[in-house]
Amino acid sequence: MSSIFITRKIFDEAIALLDGAGLDYWHNAADTPLDLPKMGAQLAEAEAIICLLTDKVDAQVMDAAPNLKIIANTAVGYDNIDVAAAAERGIIVTNTPGVLTECTADLTFALLLAAARRIVEADAYMRAGKFEGWELFQPHLGVDVYGKTLGIVGMGRIGTAVARRALHGFNMKVLYNGPRKAPQAKSLGVEYVSFLELLFESDFISIHAPLNRATRHMFTLHEFKMMKRKPILINTARGPIIKEDDLVQALQQGLIGGAGLDVFEEEPIAHPSLAGLPNVVMVPHIGSATTATRRRMAMMAVENVVSVLGGRRPLNPVNRVLSQK
Ligand code: DGY
Repeated sequence: MSSIFITRKIFDEAIALLDGAGLDYWHNAADTPLDLPKMGAQLAEAEAIICLLTDKVDAQVMDAAPNLKIIANTAVGYDNIDVAAAAERGIIVTNTPGVLTECTADLTFALLLAAARRIVEADAYMRAGKFEGWELFQPHLGVDVYGKTLGIVGMGRIGTAVARRALHGFNMKVLYNGPRKAPQAKSLGVEYVSFLELLFESDFISIHAPLNRATRHMFTLHEFKMMKRKPILINTARGPIIKEDDLVQALQQGLIGGAGLDVFEEEPIAHPSLAGLPNVVMVPHIGSATTATRRRMAMMAVENVVSVLGGRRPLNPVNRVLSQK
């Protein structure tokens, strides 16, 4: 039986790293989602779990894995794992920070530009053979991006990478809000404002906060009504930060100008009304989806496991474990 339980298919290079370290593993080569509480045999033996953000790793799963030392999430976000329950049980949780920062910031800007310039609608129009020539009042008039104000919620690694693009590529004014002021804000040239001010002043709002009790449903109809400039809202963080029912209402009522969404409240399902709204651009949680980035994420998850099972410290811990198992 294997001591490392890998819940989905991962890159060959990452598997090679485990082979090189002489570690045993069980690899879900079929790559279909697993019902973790039902994986009795794998959990009973597991000293490590390498999982994805779609795997819910809660206390029940942990209790079925008495030998578990580390849960290595192949994602920077780790709201799928009960981190407190892990800490109580002496189990380390790790994530994959840094390696997906630029890739996710690129996607954020792709969504921002696509929503502002109505790229998806215009593409469909071309494909349908509807273009009959240049007119002053063409059907896909969008909004300017260059020189506008971007409000960033969460000035961590990804928020900072988005700010750099906005400042240097698009001469934007960048405001931000978060639980604390970012030390890099001054040198970067971004301005800390209250959440309310950010809602009032932004032409674009981009979310880069983790999902937790404080950020769940941070955006409801109440906040949309405060958005004086009818901004375009971009979310490449986590779906439940926005109350999706309210987002649909805000888009339908014209409270906001549009949305660029990579993440959804009940993934993989998106609110059924979103697909009918022309001012929405939607993609299926592809923020980190380049081959190079996904490979780096898998390698990082495995490196954390190799380190911990080799008796060393984790490279990217997200919880504090008093006595490591
Ligand atoms: C993450 O890492 O948390 C992203 O959502 C997926 O890459």
